[in-house]
Amino acid sequence: MKITAIANSNIALVKYWGKRNEKLILPQNSSIGLTTDCLSVKTTLEFARKYKKDILILDGKEFKRGSEEYDKYFKSFLNKLRNLPRSEILTSAESRKGFASQTSVKILLRGLAKTKLRAKAVSQSGFPKAAGLASSAAGFAAMAAAANSALNLGLNAQGLSILARQGSGSACRSIFGGFAEWQRGKKRDGLDSFARQIANENYWPDFRLVICLTSKKEKKIKSRAGMAQTVKTSPFYDGWLKTIDDDLKKVRKGIRERDFSLVGKTAEENCLKMHALMLTTKPAIIYWNSGTIALIHRVFEWRKNGLECYFTIDAGPQVKILCLKKNLKVLLKRVKKIAGLEGIIVAKPGPGPKIVNNHLF
Ligand code: DP6
Repeated sequence: MKITAIANSNIALVKYWGKRNEKLILPQNSSIGLTTDCLSVKTTLEFARKYKKDILILDGKEFKRGSEEYDKYFKSFLNKLRNLPRSEILTSAESRKGFASQTSVKILLRGLAKTKLRAKAVSQSGFPKAAGLASSAAGFAAMAAAANSALNLGLNAQGLSILARQGSGSACRSIFGGFAEWQRGKKRDGLDSFARQIANENYWPDFRLVICLTSKKEKKIKSRAGMAQTVKTSPFYDGWLKTIDDDLKKVRKGIRERDFSLVGKTAEENCLKMHALMLTTKPAIIYWNSGTIALIHRVFEWRKNGLECYFTIDAGPQVKILCLKKNLKVLLKRVKKIAGLEGIIVAKPGPGPKIVNNHLF
């Protein structure tokens, strides 16, 4: 059956940067993301006998065997979906207990272990890919949601989050609208490593992200390779892990109490710590360009002069400025005056994936 799903990117307020298991995509630390109401990806997926091989078309371009997108992301996700041996999905009775619903685990087993069919996936995103706007998060959240229906897996949100995680880690947070925490988990099979919603998209409607595009070029180092190198070589990595729990606590509290200052301040500090890891990776990873740095200074300056806003930056040069609706107009006026910006997108808390009827092929 042909299924089409739309999912939105999420922007991390407490970042994920490093895996403890690269194959299963298990993180070193928990993270918190805000699913946006834009930055969406639409994916149509079909499993059928007529396909002799898996086909991937992203934004009108076919990616074939030999490309990273096809081999390391798409094919690897589909193979996990189709071929995971039972033992990797459910290793023990203990894993079953760790999972919220036993039924989902059973369905996860049935669905994941059985299909041999090849698939065609056509995906359309409305924003520049691989430029630090979490395209893989939206992409795999949509793909997981589509696969769930196409293969009749019957996964609940947690199962879906586990599935999406295995496409791209941050995708497990995009399964939920609003604010979601991806809990690190402890189990080796990853069945306790999924996102949970902290607050839905209607909880804090005044929260805004002003996404400033300083360059639409694709980044040279993908997050996956970058974070692996960081875990191996940054002397600051232990320090990062030691401070994460505190950041998580503050952001959770900030969301619960709608304390914008606490969320913004903590998110900005956490982002700078992640970039300190990148800078101290060998060889150094620097995603920022001159526009990124100029914006950082402007945010400091605006804040000092009474306009409350904070920034966060992911694995790319774009600066996402956090503010409240009451300050959006003034902030936008200032941002628009900055020369050289390639685009401005205003986002607010948005919903999780949905299945739609208009297919892309
Ligand atoms: C900087 O989820 O894209 O955006 O799991 O290897 O696919 P993989 O990585 P990915 O990394 C996202 C990194 C980040 C921070 C975050 O979203 O938490």
